Amino acid sequence: MNISIETHDGISLSTDLLIIGLHNGKIAENSLANTVNQKLDGLPKKLLEREKFEGKMGQSKLLHTHGKLPADYVFFVGLGAKKGFDLENIRKVSAQAIKLAKQIKAKKVLVNLLGAELGLYSIAELAQSMGEGLSLSNYLFTRYKAKPKDSHDVDSVLILSSKKESVQAQKGLARGIALAEGISLARDLINTPALDMTPLALADAAKDLKGVVTRIYKLPEIKKMKMGAYLGVALGASNPPAFIEMNYKPAGKVKKSVAIVGKGVTFDSGGLSIKPAKSMETMKDDMSGAAAVIGLMSVIARLNPKVEVWGYVAAAENAVDALAQRPGDIVTAMNGKTIEVLNTDAEGRLTLADAICHAIKKKPDYVIDLATLTGACLVALGDRYSAALGNDPDFIKRIIKAGKKAGEMIWELPLVEEYKEELKSPIADLKNIGSGYGGTINGGLFIQEFVGDHKWVHLDIAGPSWTEKPREYESRGGTGVMVKTLAEFLSEF
Ligand code: BES
Ligand code: ZN
Ligand code: ZN
Repeated sequence: MNISIETHDGISLSTDLLIIGLHNGKIAENSLANTVNQKLDGLPKKLLEREKFEGKMGQSKLLHTHGKLPADYVFFVGLGAKKGFDLENIRKVSAQAIKLAKQIKAKKVLVNLLGAELGLYSIAELAQSMGEGLSLSNYLFTRYKAKPKDSHDVDSVLILSSKKESVQAQKGLARGIALAEGISLARDLINTPALDMTPLALADAAKDLKGVVTRIYKLPEIKKMKMGAYLGVALGASNPPAFIEMNYKPAGKVKKSVAIVGKGVTFDSGGLSIKPAKSMETMKDDMSGAAAVIGLMSVIARLNPKVEVWGYVAAAENAVDALAQRPGDIVTAMNGKTIEVLNTDAEGRLTLADAICHAIKKKPDYVIDLATLTGACLVALGDRYSAALGNDPDFIKRIIKAGKKAGEMIWELPLVEEYKEELKSPIADLKNIGSGYGGTINGGLFIQEFVGDHKWVHLDIAGPSWTEKPREYESRGGTGVMVKTLAEFLSEF
């Protein structure tokens, strides 16, 4: 599907479907809607009034034009009122538009630049969100289907814009499409079963990214780097670990740098502290943090942020065999701290500990880690919210704000000093689990032991990384959550 900006009023272009977003039921306030209404002898106005169309999200009306317009169909769709309106409305409505276009087998679609008349967001922001919603609603994972279900493809979507706005619209749209591609890559990586998405396969996906220098450290080098906590997790798997390092440098002199570390457990069986079968069903998604980092890095040159970005993944499979680490084993992380591994299913924090030790050697200004770390996060916040924990209130606020704009919900949880007691081991520097309560907080406190005094935010994405229920622009499976939020955060430098 090709999405582009068209500088045109839209009324005289031939198309299968013309989409017009409305904030209220007043057709006269939208010039395109008004013209369409006149050409159709006032019928749209009459019908919208009769059906009490108020421009609410979810409201819509499809009309056939009976040859009175170059467009075969007109689709009026509610964008929501000014109060409470945000870019997420644009993504959702764009996705709704594509769904309808497929139903009526439209090949060519015209749509007005949604949300422009409110003046709440820039033209670039609106066009970006349209690009995200339009392209992401098209995502399908078909790699393992012999015959992918016949689904109708829309050939082209033209977004109507004035001449004055077209440069900004073009810029925003290009960003939105780039982000959608990064997210789609993340989704592909997550949805690919662990049989194929091994640590080395994940590393392959991080190679040859445009504008990014990638380095892969294999087992002998990981040993040399003394990443004992990470290595312990990989012991039970015949698929060897792979440590991935990605670097993007902006043009000009580097002023600030951000390190982003993604949990990359390609399959989490729990290890010897084995998971129940049901809990294992979706554990190929335990590399969703890594997928988000790789997805982001795959398009970062097109997003072109003014900040240096380092991406890291300590990829490993948490499997069970004769060589697997045992509860009670003590491992030594890269920074010399010893850890008593009392539960081999709390493996993510062990891989992250060493990845972060490595990341902070470059002295980044900001460290972000994102991980499907705890089931407790699903208990606390459900599957729509990610948790943020960190050591710098302003930094946490910036991440939460970026999430809001990106349509990804994040809630702060506290790093409770007192709970640190629970991570003390009688025979090592730390143990990898706490009492059982406050699991997400304990996970954060454990990781904090490895960040030193760097500004740091930990994002637990155990909930939103996966969806069983398809949503407006998310299909069942891996979601690629946090690609948009991270891109938004980086764009603010
Ligand atoms: N990968 C899991 C966390 C998880 C659970 C993610 C459910 C998504 C859905 C993680 O490695 C894990 O097993 N954590 C344990 C920690 C516990 C042993 C302290 C958990 O949440 O039970
Ligand atoms: Zn686990
Ligand atoms: Zn895990």
